[in-house]
Amino acid sequence: MRITVVGSGNVGLVAGACFADLGHEVIVVDNNQQKLEALRNGEVPIHEKFLPELLSRHRGNRLIFSADLKDGARRSAAIFVAVGTPPTGRGEADLSYVESVAREISGGLEDYKVVIEKSTVPVYTSEWIRRIILRNGVDADSFDVASNPEFLREGTAVTDFLFPDRIVIGCDHDRAVEVLRKIYAPMTDGSYYRRTAAIPQPDRAAIPPPVIVTSTKSAELIKHASNAFLAMKISFINAVASVCESVGADVNQVVHGVGSDSRIGGRFLNPGIGYGGSCFPKDVKAFCAVARECGYDFGLLDEVMRINEDQRQRFLRKVRSALWTLRGKRLAVLGLAFKGGTDDIRESPALFVVQALLEEGSQVTAYDPAAMDRARETVGSSIQFANSAYEAAHGADALLILTEWEEFANLDLKRVRQELRYPIVIDGRNLYEPELMAAQGFTYYSVGRAAAHPDGVPSVLVKNGKKA
Ligand code: UGA
Repeated sequence: MRITVVGSGNVGLVAGACFADLGHEVIVVDNNQQKLEALRNGEVPIHEKFLPELLSRHRGNRLIFSADLKDGARRSAAIFVAVGTPPTGRGEADLSYVESVAREISGGLEDYKVVIEKSTVPVYTSEWIRRIILRNGVDADSFDVASNPEFLREGTAVTDFLFPDRIVIGCDHDRAVEVLRKIYAPMTDGSYYRRTAAIPQPDRAAIPPPVIVTSTKSAELIKHASNAFLAMKISFINAVASVCESVGADVNQVVHGVGSDSRIGGRFLNPGIGYGGSCFPKDVKAFCAVARECGYDFGLLDEVMRINEDQRQRFLRKVRSALWTLRGKRLAVLGLAFKGGTDDIRESPALFVVQALLEEGSQVTAYDPAAMDRARETVGSSIQFANSAYEAAHGADALLILTEWEEFANLDLKRVRQELRYPIVIDGRNLYEPELMAAQGFTYYSVGRAAAHPDGVPSVLVKNGKKA
């Protein structure tokens, strides 16, 4: 089948490359000529596992890049809209890019086609897309609008796309559902997974994935509600971590006990310095705004956002209490990306912490395996960049772990201790066991667990349930 994907951002580019790997002819359309040129020349604009392989496998044959949206629409049976939906000042999703795509493709809808929302959009967006296309003179029989939300995470987007927990097809017309079923058939009939060149199956993937067919509005809500629920899980466990700190309990033990209940599940219960990225912060806000607009005050989500912001402040307070004053302190920072496995720094809690430390007069030397180029564009020369975790630690008053990169969980601790001026580690991602760190000679602070000291003096003494 020939497919056009509009937008070559994280979702559009990954979807385009994966559709090509499933065997479809794909046109990825973008209005940024420079980006198109780079993609045609073999550049890979985002840090995403398996994406370079897929692009080099299909570029120029099953996967082409074009600026001509109308032509792409004319030549395709399905048009996926994967353009950005950034937040407006009021927290709603800005749908102006979606609207201009709907207008432009109208000229290419001569015979029957399905227009599919892939970006995260509020409920009712499909209705608006339909209205815009009709207003531009297209016959109602010539198209349907469907919602096919994507649940891919940055860093593991390719495997998330090809091995999803579910495929959601939201559409109010059977003929459009059939087109989408055909597109995903190599996954749902299992034939893709039997190919020798298929991307390797990750742990936990249940193949073939089930298809969930819903109304268009339900599918739009499934995406917003899924992201909001995951963000809520993170804020919930961060709130529990704060209680653990007050009473001297260990949040990791609590997570183990709570997450072992199959009704709850242990995933997305890692405490830390709060969620960030281009999705959760924007989508929780947008979902709240949509609910408000529809007459429902979703106060629960306001609290999710409040806890998330507070989590960063709590971490900063921890740094202050570990180091007393921050002015003039040299701090080593591990991690600038909003999470491990990506070079994305949008809404990164790590960068928020770095900026706050700079404002308080600290000097920061940072290392991130992938995000330093992007961070440089934002923080410029206000911090120093190191080539390794050890170089960052050299001569520092303390080491701060802000992003859950796997590499940071496997440091040579003896070397870290030798490099640091003082053996203090403040871990915002709970990558180490407190006892192990104390045994290695560190004073170690983490999230939702008592601080550990080499001399064994506990930082939180509990007497009759109260901190002494
Ligand atoms: C998220 C969702 O997980 C995807 O399902 C969704 O498709 C995507 O948004 C989207 O809407 O496009 P992503 O933003 O790539 O994916 O990142 P996540 O892996 O979900 O992490 C988000 C943030 O939560 C990160 O800052 C991460 O460090 C934090 N996090 C995650 C925690 O603090 N604890 C956890 O247990 C999990």
